[in-house]
Amino acid sequence: MCISRKILNWYAPKDRGLPWRKTKDPYAIWVSEIMLQQTQANTVIPYYERFMAAFPTAKDLAAAEEEALLKHWQGLGYYRRAKHLMAAAKIVAREGMPGDFEGLKALPGIGDYTAAAIASIAYGEAVAAVDGNLLRIYSRLHMVDGSIDKAAGKRRIVELANKDISRDRPGDFNQAMMDLGSKICTPTSPACGDCPLRGDCMAYHANCAEDYPRKSPK
Ligand code: ADE
Repeated sequence: MCISRKILNWYAPKDRGLPWRKTKDPYAIWVSEIMLQQTQANTVIPYYERFMAAFPTAKDLAAAEEEALLKHWQGLGYYRRAKHLMAAAKIVAREGMPGDFEGLKALPGIGDYTAAAIASIAYGEAVAAVDGNLLRIYSRLHMVDGSIDKAAGKRRIVELANKDISRDRPGDFNQAMMDLGSKICTPTSPACGDCPLRGDCMAYHANCAEDYPRKSPK
């Protein structure tokens, strides 16, 4: 069975009770992904719910006072994220929501990872969302010896993940990898015995999962 089938069989999106997993609204997914950039999922939940109640659409956010937005962001920190989100909402209110990965990336505050998360979850575009979790998982699956904090190591993983990603359910594939990274394929003491991908994992077979990912010497 291929990696994407195995990870999708394992994925239980309801388990974590994450409200942004119940919607396909690109704006709502965007808001959640911006909040999740530097903040843990469980902390984000109440902020996300209050924010979506106050600013249910990009137009509402574009028309809001910056002060009201910042009040809803208080406690999340990294206020630059909120300011970028508002600047981007003004563009979206004028021009409409970009409909693909490249268009999303052109908005303030949206980089490769966030664009891939939104495009895969909201639009079903098959682009891997490569964050620290995915880098760790793939460096173990393939025992990638290039440092993942260097462009070449990262590029190799982007290629591998973009080959594996489910064409039918790319958003679920990305979110399943996020869950695998947070619950099983953790930085230290990974729970390899419970991992749905252990049969495919070179580092598991070599008994050296914890030695990956490789970092360049300081
Ligand atoms: N971290 C970043 N995006 C996430 C998502 N969609 N679900 C859970 N954790 C995340």
